[in-house]
Amino acid sequence: MSASQLLLLRPAWARLLRLGAAGPVSFRPGYEGASAGARPGPPRQRRRSGLRPREGETEERRQRSPGTAEAGLSVLLAALGLAHCSSKGRASKEAALLEAARTNNIQEVSRLLSEGVDVNSRHKLGWTVLMVAAINRNQSVVKALLIAGADPNLGDEFSSVFDTAKEKAIHSLEVLVTREDDFSSRLNNRASFRGCTALHYAVLSDDYRTIKELLDGGANPLQMNEMGHTPVDYAREGEVKKLLKVCEEKFLEEEKRRALEERRRFPLEQRLKEHIIGQESAIATVGAAIRRKENGWYDEEHPLVFLFLGSSGIGKTELAKQTAKYLHKDIKKGFIRLDMSEFQEKHEVAKFIGSPPGYVGHEEGGQLTKKLKQCPNAVVLFDEVDKAHPDVLTIMLQLFDEGRLTDGKGKTIECKDAIFIMTCNAASDEIAQHAIQLRQEAQEMSRKRLAENLDDVQINEKITISRHFKENVIRPILKAHFRRDEFLGRINEIVYFLPFCHSELIQLVNKELNFWAKKAKQRHNITLMWDREVMDVLADGYNLHYGARSIKHEVERRVVNQLAAAYEQNLLPWGCTLRIAVDDSDKNLLKTKDNLPLGLESKKAPTLRLEIVDKDSKGRKLNIQTPLQPENLSFF
Ligand SMILES: Nc1ncnc2c1ncn2[C@@H]1O[C@H](COP(=O)(O)OP(=O)(O)OP(=O)(O)O)[C@@H](O)[C@H]1O
Ligand SMILES: [Mg+2]
Repeated sequence: MSASQLLLLRPAWARLLRLGAAGPVSFRPGYEGASAGARPGPPRQRRRSGLRPREGETEERRQRSPGTAEAGLSVLLAALGLAHCSSKGRASKEAALLEAARTNNIQEVSRLLSEGVDVNSRHKLGWTVLMVAAINRNQSVVKALLIAGADPNLGDEFSSVFDTAKEKAIHSLEVLVTREDDFSSRLNNRASFRGCTALHYAVLSDDYRTIKELLDGGANPLQMNEMGHTPVDYAREGEVKKLLKVCEEKFLEEEKRRALEERRRFPLEQRLKEHIIGQESAIATVGAAIRRKENGWYDEEHPLVFLFLGSSGIGKTELAKQTAKYLHKDIKKGFIRLDMSEFQEKHEVAKFIGSPPGYVGHEEGGQLTKKLKQCPNAVVLFDEVDKAHPDVLTIMLQLFDEGRLTDGKGKTIECKDAIFIMTCNAASDEIAQHAIQLRQEAQEMSRKRLAENLDDVQINEKITISRHFKENVIRPILKAHFRRDEFLGRINEIVYFLPFCHSELIQLVNKELNFWAKKAKQRHNITLMWDREVMDVLADGYNLHYGARSIKHEVERRVVNQLAAAYEQNLLPWGCTLRIAVDDSDKNLLKTKDNLPLGLESKKAPTLRLEIVDKDSKGRKLNIQTPLQPENLSFF
């Protein structure tokens, strides 16, 4: 039977057959589960692995087969003097567990597990105990491992023989022999197995009972290996395929129900607030739109499109990223980010969706289309969309309008379920100035009311951008930039990001200091504390144009630099407690920031110092020598 006939009869297996050349995974021919036209492997390994030969094949015939690659390999190995350690000789208990799982030694498996050997241990080349039991059809071992808590959804870290050898810096022949002896000799050496789960292997072994065991034990039939194949892609027509299909459907439904329940208990807004400081109205707008979409209250014909406006470093990318994280488990595929300043020229349209046939780069495909194909319902972030060439905008308009995109190869990708987020720096200064003005007005009002002795007054820093400002200031700016009403018309929500108010800056400073305190503890066992005044001083480093990034830099410049210098000068004993404080001589420079509008701070910033806190809670100032500035160095 020819390979093409097989392709027609058993597409998945036929695909496996071709794997030696290009495809994902396949059995080494000659064994049960392998396709016709196969050559048998060496008897030694078959005996060791306990695999049954193909029906009708005799041991004698197999022995007679012309010098197999493996026989040659053994000679070559001997010639090279490569010692191949038998797993029997391995000292470690984990290795013993892997070997017991491979040889179906259930007593030994139980004994080792009762001794506390990690049930999810991996072979040094990457596979788990459960995988080795599954590929060798050892159903009772699979069952025992699952009961002991083996994770059926771990992926194999072994890729192909060649790639693993390169990765681990081991001779490829050693990898080959180890894979065959310690795992299975039935698999194609040239194919990549990275990401294959125990279920993939059980399906490759065509072992119904093990497959059922794994599915009952929580194996995900929808999990893909790195080549993007789920177990069913490797199943033969028949019982196994039917079982997998039914389980896939059930699993999908169950997953949806679980996700919905999870979202009900832990709504998007709450999750976003854990990562994003302030920007409450942006969070509310995005959260509401996504809830509408998730619950079917939206126009299915069009994808959801947002335009994020606001200055740099205030959480636009972060909000997009967190939304993607919430919606997709696989954040790598579920979040697509494109820097639109890379598509400023007309010819760069090809980079976006791929070049037509006959043009350079046709085979590569486009940056957007390639990624959207992998995850058509991804969250797609088009950063700095105002920089893109008008032809790119035309393609985006088609994308937003029809929810589909045709790539350079003429293939259409449906992406009505995707969420598109554009960011644009136009109007960011206007938004920032407007927000600052609104905050000043709100503070003025509060002060006046305080002066009138109304003691229920709270200084409110929450402000909302007025409809008048959006229509009369923002829309004309956007129109001038995009020059097309239909483009703006396809945006579901324009989301405004506002500069941080003082209390938000304090939260940002705190977040940053906590980040460094954690590092100090982990790396040097140092406990870091700080006074409230320190947070005020650091919040003063806020720069409207750099947003939260300016706070990060301020903390690095004024605190972390001192920590590093003190550490270098051996001033920080192991396990000490350090306090960051405002230098006494500069205390007079401190002022109550809460009532001061942004931009009116005094020029000289108070100095921060580090103190070692002694056992009696007294602080001892560290005498840190100022590191030499490059400009102060003189060379003779
Ligand atoms: N509101 C926020 N809350 C917490 N962290 C923030 C916030 N805004 C920004 N950050 C932090 O500052 C850094 C930059 O933020 P982000 O990338 O979201 O900025 P952006 O608004 O996309 O800026 P740009 O316009 O320059 O791309 C990130 O590390 C992010 O975690
Ligand atoms: Mg950004």
